[in-house]
Amino acid sequence: MSVADHLRRVRDVTLPLRDILEQRVDEPHVPRWCESRGWATFLVGLSESELVDAEAHGLLRAMPERAPDSLKALAQDVLSVTSLPRVSGSTPLGTEALRNVRLRKRAQLSGLLAAVRRMADAAERVVDVGAGSGHFTRLSADLFQREALGLEQSAERVASAKRRSTAALASFVAVDALAELRLERGDLAIGLHACGALGDHLSRAVASARCGLALVSCCLQKIPQDVRLPLSGGIELRREHLGLANLTSQPRGVEASIEVTIGARQTRYALGQLLRARGVPLEPGAEMSGINRRQANAGLARVASLALALRALPPPTDHELAHHDSLAAKDYALIRRLSLPRSMLSRLVEVLVSLDRAAHLEEQGLGVRVAELFEPAVSPRNIGIFANPDAGLLPAA
Ligand SMILES: C[S@@+](CC[C@H](N)C(=O)[O-])C[C@H]1O[C@@H](n2cnc3c(N)ncnc32)[C@H](O)[C@@H]1O
Repeated sequence: MSVADHLRRVRDVTLPLRDILEQRVDEPHVPRWCESRGWATFLVGLSESELVDAEAHGLLRAMPERAPDSLKALAQDVLSVTSLPRVSGSTPLGTEALRNVRLRKRAQLSGLLAAVRRMADAAERVVDVGAGSGHFTRLSADLFQREALGLEQSAERVASAKRRSTAALASFVAVDALAELRLERGDLAIGLHACGALGDHLSRAVASARCGLALVSCCLQKIPQDVRLPLSGGIELRREHLGLANLTSQPRGVEASIEVTIGARQTRYALGQLLRARGVPLEPGAEMSGINRRQANAGLARVASLALALRALPPPTDHELAHHDSLAAKDYALIRRLSLPRSMLSRLVEVLVSLDRAAHLEEQGLGVRVAELFEPAVSPRNIGIFANPDAGLLPAA
């Protein structure tokens, strides 16, 4: 199936679900999309163990047999259109080269280097866009014996990349790649976890240079405007729809166990309610603004103290904390159940945007492949978009 055909299928499944994308479940009330599809009784009646199972594996994969047929059919459709081939392979890397590189990043680097090997051998230069600490830049310069240029907006990360790199062919520049990105026909452009707007910009720049690309997207919601316009046959998505793609269901979260993750979400909900009860106007999701999100793992007392201090308000009382903790336990149990169908759409959004970028590249005559590049445990943001003027050099899937 061509990328354009795959994109059409994903679009056909997504368009009738716009109302679900539109209405987040922020309150303990049955949303309209749930009422109108007749899913509420089933969802509200889920036992705690069914709920935990669905949160850990996604309702897509942990759907109880008695679920309404329309919900089961939707799960089937989503699973079918979001399934992608897998690019496998790894590149052995020396311990010195990987010193101070996190384990998961090591696996990402090893997988990506293996995937682009043939494209890199044919390229004149590797351009690593959003290079971070420059690991891919320096490793690819050494491995492929090619000039490798790392572009990164953070001057601090560029300085650290320069300190770290001994690769003669690697260089690093502090630059905003959204403003300045010049690619040549012989380049292989890399975006390993290139955030929202950068991923789109890179796709456009590669399409017009008609060069090679390996792009693994992440944080799709990081866009300057409210809406992402499609590059090809995708659909318009607002920032909060794009944010859905960051949701990951895994028995063990990437940074913490699912229990800790759910506990932190309940704490954030309790915090939002406490702040509103104090008269603080809040957009959904804004309760943790200015506070490191990991602080939510420490419980309501901690984040409430921080959030109130940030607003120059008196600290929380014991009574207030106990009241909002117990209210949140009740409300959040309902919110968790009602959120399951919307969370089911997370991969759909991610695949839709990846295919939209890929279709744009295909329209320019490039050979294109969209495939999973890592195990979700290595990174849940694991969709690779590969493009090359010579389709024969794309990684095998
Ligand atoms: C998620 S990190 C990935 C870093 C690296 N590629 C890796 O995989 O470790 C994204 C990086 O892109 C950089 N970045 C984001 N927008 C950028 C822009 N407009 N120009 C250059 N770098 C940018 C960020 O500063 C950050 O270092």
